[in-house]
Amino acid sequence: CGIVGILAREAAAPQLVDGLKRLEYRGYDSAGVATLEDGRIVRRRAEGKLRNLEAKLKSEPLGGLTGIGHTRWATHGAPTESNAHPHATERVAVVHNGIIENFRELRAELEAEGASFTSQTDTEVVAHLASRALSAGATPREAVRETLAKLRGAFALAFIFAGEEDLLIGARRGSPLAIGHGEGEAYLGSDAVALAPFTDAVTYLDDGDWCALTRSSVEIYDDAGAKVKRETVRSSVASVMVDKGAYRHFMAKEIAEQPEVVGHSLVRYVDMTTGRIRLPDGADFDFSTLDRLAISACGTAYYAGLVARYWFEKFARLPVDIDIASEFRYREPPLAPGSLALMISQSGETADTLATLRHCKAQGVKIGAVVNVPTSTIAREADVIFPTVAGVEVGVASTKAFTCQLAVLAALAIKAGRDRKVLSDADEQKLVAALIELPRLMSEALHLEDAIEKLAPTFAKAQDVLYLGRGTSFPIALEGALKLKEISYIHAEGYAAGELKHGPIALVDETVPVVVLAPFDPLFEKTASNMQEVAARGGRIVLITDAEGAKHAGETFATLVVPKAFAFVSPLIYAIPIQLIAYHTAVFMGTDVDQPRNLAKSVTVE
Ligand code: G6P
Repeated sequence: CGIVGILAREAAAPQLVDGLKRLEYRGYDSAGVATLEDGRIVRRRAEGKLRNLEAKLKSEPLGGLTGIGHTRWATHGAPTESNAHPHATERVAVVHNGIIENFRELRAELEAEGASFTSQTDTEVVAHLASRALSAGATPREAVRETLAKLRGAFALAFIFAGEEDLLIGARRGSPLAIGHGEGEAYLGSDAVALAPFTDAVTYLDDGDWCALTRSSVEIYDDAGAKVKRETVRSSVASVMVDKGAYRHFMAKEIAEQPEVVGHSLVRYVDMTTGRIRLPDGADFDFSTLDRLAISACGTAYYAGLVARYWFEKFARLPVDIDIASEFRYREPPLAPGSLALMISQSGETADTLATLRHCKAQGVKIGAVVNVPTSTIAREADVIFPTVAGVEVGVASTKAFTCQLAVLAALAIKAGRDRKVLSDADEQKLVAALIELPRLMSEALHLEDAIEKLAPTFAKAQDVLYLGRGTSFPIALEGALKLKEISYIHAEGYAAGELKHGPIALVDETVPVVVLAPFDPLFEKTASNMQEVAARGGRIVLITDAEGAKHAGETFATLVVPKAFAFVSPLIYAIPIQLIAYHTAVFMGTDVDQPRNLAKSVTVE
């Protein structure tokens, strides 16, 4: 979960531990460091907190000026010492954040060639792949390049090599990684916070970059292998956790963090080794006895609930009621004892959601809560907490908290499907495999940023914008309209594509951009014909679809192509372009993106 790498002038191990301490806030359950002693790779790793690692280093110190360190939050395999990072062969040691999707195939291939594995992690394949390349005569740089080409997933990596005291290599694909510049020293860190004890001169790698550092040089390569320059910035880590880093706004940072934090949220709910859902400790809940699920939430969290309704009903055949929390009580729904009332809230403090929770509790119904702030009132008062792991969200307009809510709700719906015997083991594994791909696919979707920035002037000119979608794309259309309203103050409406003819089409003319969310799934044809109805009236269609959809779409004003995914996970992918549209429109218009007028991050009045 946290990475530190150091080319130091003094003993590396204590400094690595210092950097790791800064990363404790991210949560972890084991830790380790590796250094080069006389060119040989040596390691110390320990279960549990950093003090266990420190105790170990005290009794068996590590020398050496070159090293990498890691705090791990168990994903593949339990939080044991043998699963703790760094993972190493005699030639190379590596630390890793994120998910390597194809590790099973790679491991089988390496084992067939005689490699012997000592952990259950996905990371160890990286050490073996690099090691195999080195044995075949590759230089460390070539070995890393070859290794990266074989990996699928979203991750960050840091490597050191036996006999190479002046070399540290890092790679970023989907998970962040930054270079720290010192006087005759160089560092890598999973964020500027980890680098704070050493330097405030920081270079953030772009997605797809990898870098080779020595004490006196920095080389950065992009994903096409071209040597590139990236800006060095002064990071103000005074307010450690809430640092904008290289981003202009918190919202931009939070949008970009989604592959990582969705990964963090998922690994709390997925047993990567079996490919099955495993609920976090204290959150184990059996959905088999439920008659009904009653979801309540506000704002963006409500839209996450709307998406979840499709999932729970389809995968678990569990009837779902969903309400805007402030309306729930006035509807006076009868709450059967077999219901679970599920609150969804980033802050866990929203007054209306809290009031609904208390109302349900007073009726004797069991309360579940999908919350991001574990110390919040809603978390404290719920019977079962399903945590999201989005980290601190600063931007008032919710982004990463939303996709993390979706990730958790998707996992819960699959678990419910299993409990209720609607999904077979094979179905479950297929759905979980689709979830695991999300961090990678979301980081690909982020590459649409430049194309979307170019559309900002078109949106900025509009008085009204329509968003259309069918199925689970419908709530994402609602969320798209909400995001645009919130931060650009342009009037926007989300509609179920099929409702277009029942009213909103009256608004359409050549001044109205119409954002259509349409993955190429069984609903595509229908949405495409609604799109033609808009085009026929001069509406400017901005279509968000996948490659296949783009082929079948006909003419549009602009088409944004997101990666093809298993249909059920598409809401998490389509959320990214709609967030980016709102963000870039607002930036273009010069509004206060992180603190839009009249809005509050957490609304604690009814
Ligand atoms: C406010 C925020 C929204 C958020 C809503 C619900 O209106 O501006 O971004 O979606 O509250 O907040 P919660 O913390 O309960 O998810």
